[in-house]
Amino acid sequence: MRIIASTLSVILSLWACTCLPAQVPVSVPVIPAPQEAHLTDKSFNKKYLDRIQYDRDLTLPAEAYVLEIKKNRIVVRSSDEAGRFYAQQTLAQLSSADVMHCGVIKDAPRYAWRGFMLDEARHFHGKEKVKELLDLMARYKLNRFHWHLSDDQGWRVEIKAFPELTQIGAVGDYTDANAAAKFYTQDDIREIVAYAAERHIEVIPEIDMPGHASAFNRTFPDLAFGSRTVNPENEKLYEVLNQVIKELADIFPGRYLHIGGDEVSGEGWKERQKGFELRHSAAVRAAGKTPIVWDDAIDSDLDPETTIIHWWRADHPESLEKALASGYQTIVSPWDPFYLDYIQDARCKEGHLAWKQYVNGLDEIYNYPLSADEHIIGVQANLWTERVVTSDRLDYMVFPRLIALAEKAWSSSLDYNDFLQRLEGELRYLDFRQVYYFDFRDFSRHPEPLK
Ligand code: ACM
Repeated sequence: MRIIASTLSVILSLWACTCLPAQVPVSVPVIPAPQEAHLTDKSFNKKYLDRIQYDRDLTLPAEAYVLEIKKNRIVVRSSDEAGRFYAQQTLAQLSSADVMHCGVIKDAPRYAWRGFMLDEARHFHGKEKVKELLDLMARYKLNRFHWHLSDDQGWRVEIKAFPELTQIGAVGDYTDANAAAKFYTQDDIREIVAYAAERHIEVIPEIDMPGHASAFNRTFPDLAFGSRTVNPENEKLYEVLNQVIKELADIFPGRYLHIGGDEVSGEGWKERQKGFELRHSAAVRAAGKTPIVWDDAIDSDLDPETTIIHWWRADHPESLEKALASGYQTIVSPWDPFYLDYIQDARCKEGHLAWKQYVNGLDEIYNYPLSADEHIIGVQANLWTERVVTSDRLDYMVFPRLIALAEKAWSSSLDYNDFLQRLEGELRYLDFRQVYYFDFRDFSRHPEPLK
């Protein structure tokens, strides 16, 4: 009897080994963390990585995917191309681990807007750097590239009706007011927009008005009001801006145009700004785009149905509250802690000068408490480049903080310690791509580039 019982238990345990799902949960080496993952301790044979079956499943939401990894084949289900693309990004990360486990991943983003902003007005970084950034954004499932293309130091986009905007306005940068003109031609822009679209990234240009407009004012002194603001009472201003909007709407096929609106103050400006924003945003809508404004324009009475507010003033929480209560779709980018021009570690020397005491660390970005308000359409990290001249410094300020932001934007449940463990694999990937990231594990490994 004893022999029969023990033989039976051996047979049962063998059966369990071969037929039941393994009981050992396996952690998922993917950033951003997927919504749901059930990996087993069985391994997938990587020589079958090209055996992927793609099925359309219209029951899944936009950008979502289901990934089934069987022993020698993979099935991907999604309702759209973006979901399929994100399954491929997940697979790229899974397959770079030594062992790739079988199992099922069900994934969908928390937010529709997962953004990164690059300021190319203060210092121009060029097409190849932008493409590198787009590659890395795609790996972490970021989908909005906000391109700050005008500011006091430079106007960086060709406008065919006004060649003087780049002949004059593109001269200079934050370091050298006489630096040779640097800007993107319309062909460059089309190339980048197409490159981004292949990676499911929408590009949103920003032309910052009515403040931060010195480069525009150098080109059109008659339209200026002081040195940094345009004159909203001059009719000719709207003729020029409407032509700019028309050309931008043509070269940027996306849904949005960012019209700036930040940091204008002084005698009478509140009313002036309101008049300007109402008229300028109407022209953007007439060109078929949704205007986005920085939250400084919250009191300009823009239509909540057709305007997006971009909240950045962490020191003005009431502005976010007003945006949400008024029903505006809102993007959340508080400078504390989502601005990547601030230092990320107390040992760093160079960062936003006026506010050097603020350290926007990896953990602060990751753990920033987000309201559950349904009007928040997403989050975004911004890099202002007054003090970012070189490509190495750009990398250093952006990575790995942008990866923390990406997980915040995509994943519904967040665990910082688990994120740090998964980040190890991604830092190896950044090494492989020769990204000069801030290595918080060993401060001396990539010394801080000061320019
Ligand atoms: C901003 O940081 N001035 C939008």
